[in-house]
Amino acid sequence: MNNTKYYHILTYGCQMNVHESEKLAGFLEERGYVETQNQNQADVIVFNTCCIRKSAEEKILGNIGAVKPIKKLNPNLVVAVCGCMSQQPEMADLIQKKFPFVNIIFGTHNLSKFGEFLDDFNLNHKRIKSIEDEVYINENVPMYRTSGYNGWVNIMYGCNNFCTYCIVPYVRGREKSRDAKDIIEEVESLLKTGKYKVITLLGQNVNSYGNDLSNGISFAMLLQKIADLPYEFKLKFMTSHPKDLTDDVIDVIANNPKISKAIHLPVQSGSNRILKLMNRKYTVEHYLETINKIKEKIPNVSLTSDFIVGFPTETEEDFNMTCDLVKTVSYNGIFAFMYSPRQGTPAATMDGQVSQEEKNKRVNALLKLEKEISLQKNNEMIGKVENCIVERKLDTKDLDCYIVKTDSGKTIIVQCNDLRELSFVDVKITKIENNQLYGEVLN
Ligand code: 5AD
Ligand code: SF4
Repeated sequence: MNNTKYYHILTYGCQMNVHESEKLAGFLEERGYVETQNQNQADVIVFNTCCIRKSAEEKILGNIGAVKPIKKLNPNLVVAVCGCMSQQPEMADLIQKKFPFVNIIFGTHNLSKFGEFLDDFNLNHKRIKSIEDEVYINENVPMYRTSGYNGWVNIMYGCNNFCTYCIVPYVRGREKSRDAKDIIEEVESLLKTGKYKVITLLGQNVNSYGNDLSNGISFAMLLQKIADLPYEFKLKFMTSHPKDLTDDVIDVIANNPKISKAIHLPVQSGSNRILKLMNRKYTVEHYLETINKIKEKIPNVSLTSDFIVGFPTETEEDFNMTCDLVKTVSYNGIFAFMYSPRQGTPAATMDGQVSQEEKNKRVNALLKLEKEISLQKNNEMIGKVENCIVERKLDTKDLDCYIVKTDSGKTIIVQCNDLRELSFVDVKITKIENNQLYGEVLN
């Protein structure tokens, strides 16, 4: 008889959540549970949720509902719901009422208590709902890393910006930076294993790292200290806020070969009027000044951004300014979202809400524009040299071909006799066929 106990985690939303699921998995692994991809086999199912847009919440509610028949077949199944969605008290109430088979409900603030909640439930079989106002950070949570050669490392939690459309500051609390010593120790412990080749520093607004600490270590200094560690790896970070991206950060990126040359700098809109209503605290002119500085100092930079279309009162003219900005910057990629009113945020009750039809039209127009630009950007890559990580050998009969990845995550196929997996190589891009890049190894 198989006594193994299995768990299955469903993760929604951003990289922060992906990483937090590694912490949830850590608590389960510590207790002897083993991961399964099959919900029907699971003894514990965890939903790690996102509430950034209504569409995410609706999808998650549907997926939680779909567990009901599984629970009927296996009454001992433990179902837990946590993360940003359940951190909202009204939503936690709704989940509690709508899904009586959910056993444990908690939020983002007390994620590190998951182990206690699970033990408590397994012992007492009493439903647990624990949503806390105060953020409780525990440095010593176990982690079960699942992202291959990517090591995610939190450098800060929360956000102070209160962009008027955004729910994040309400469900993640105020900015709290981790001690630089703890961060560097964690990064070094990952690099020492030889298994992790890309380290990504995570925070809602990494550029304001250290503002809440008294030791004077800025984000630029932190980047420099980590890049100085004597290992072969790439250093990435997300997400940056344009108002806080300082010259010293740009300089550190430009001067350090270990730091990724892919920068995600969400601008959200190309209209100053809308940026003001969004409380973004910068203008298009300031943003472009930063972009120009970046392009000047990091000539091979890959730039990406987020956009929201259909923010309250956004006119056709405002939207056209957004399209103009996309053309001016000529991004390597963009993410375009339709504005989704979030209860409790200032924008949700603003006059001039834009119709769904108009939002659809604008998001499609923006995505069409991005497709044209990214095709052109791909063509411009021919002849350029990119420092890439060797991911794996391709299964081809006659030739030795490898898949390598650029900083921005683009896949290039190279032909080469012998490449060491997870090493870094300079690749010259030679051609593009059916939107697939091909290249040759230089070193
Ligand atoms: N509606 C639509 N998109 C949103 N984002 C944040 N809040 C909302 C919202 N209410 C987008 C922003 C942000 C990205 C992570 O999600 O573009 O940069
Ligand atoms: Fe949300 Fe703005 Fe904070 Fe980003 S910076 S998490 S968009 S409030």
